[in-house]
Amino acid sequence: MSFEIRNLDAPLGAEILGLDLSEVPHEAELGHIRQALAERGVLVFRDQSRLTPEEHIAFSRTFGPLQIHIQHHFHHPQHPEILVVSNVVENGKPIGLADAGRYWHSDLSYVAEPSLGSLLHAQELPDEGGDTLFANQVAAYESLPAELRERIDGLQAVHSYEARNRAQQAVSGDKRPGLTEAQRASVPPVTHPVVRVHPESGRKALFVNEGFTTHIVGLPEDESRALLEELFTVSVAERFIYRHRWQPHDLVFWDNRQTVHLATPFPQHYRRKLYRTTVQGDVPAGPN
Ligand code: OGA
Ligand code: MN
Repeated sequence: MSFEIRNLDAPLGAEILGLDLSEVPHEAELGHIRQALAERGVLVFRDQSRLTPEEHIAFSRTFGPLQIHIQHHFHHPQHPEILVVSNVVENGKPIGLADAGRYWHSDLSYVAEPSLGSLLHAQELPDEGGDTLFANQVAAYESLPAELRERIDGLQAVHSYEARNRAQQAVSGDKRPGLTEAQRASVPPVTHPVVRVHPESGRKALFVNEGFTTHIVGLPEDESRALLEELFTVSVAERFIYRHRWQPHDLVFWDNRQTVHLATPFPQHYRRKLYRTTVQGDVPAGPN
């Protein structure tokens, strides 16, 4: 192997050193990357200073088809496969989604085939703040008492984009557009198992998140709320978290099937801009 994979000193995550992604890695290298992603949940590719949007897209596609984000205002102007995550305003218009991920979530858990993983490439970073936190959902699941694990193994939960977008609009105002009728129709609520079996590692992970999971199927409202609150709390306990402090030109590839993540705030007089691609995954499988 021509590059190094070094586990981070954290409950998940590994650094990939000495690999330039501007050339698509060959099949054996891609195999190591896939395996490391399944094992560690987050991969940090350092020093991707030469990587163009086209090359970012080409690398991402080796893992599956790409998903086009519903907020089309914030696509890269030449490449709808890239979602711009940014607080930068140009000619009076936000160039990207300014408040992406300000709540714990797994990308696109609100669609029938949620994202396998997302690849976020740093373009401009603030001098302070703007870290991204990742939490290990396999470890969170395994930490639960046996009776609770057994109980949730058989449960399903509903995920909704619209519920989140509405809540986010209330906080972010005009930075976050409402959905058109067509957009709304394209993201009806979906149901997924509360516990997801990772298709590559075979390990069970919690698959509910504060961002998009609205309720548990078949439970009275108050019980559903109480159980979700309990699971959300465990899922992001300090001991399951890796804090990513962005370095210039990092590309971070995370596995949405076994992690949740959160964007932390930063002073808004700094510019922050990152490019994201999103790889489609399979229909989540439960333990039963
Ligand atoms: C995302 C996201 C977090 C961040 O792009 O999916 O949640 O720190 N971003 O920008
Ligand atoms: Mn996200």
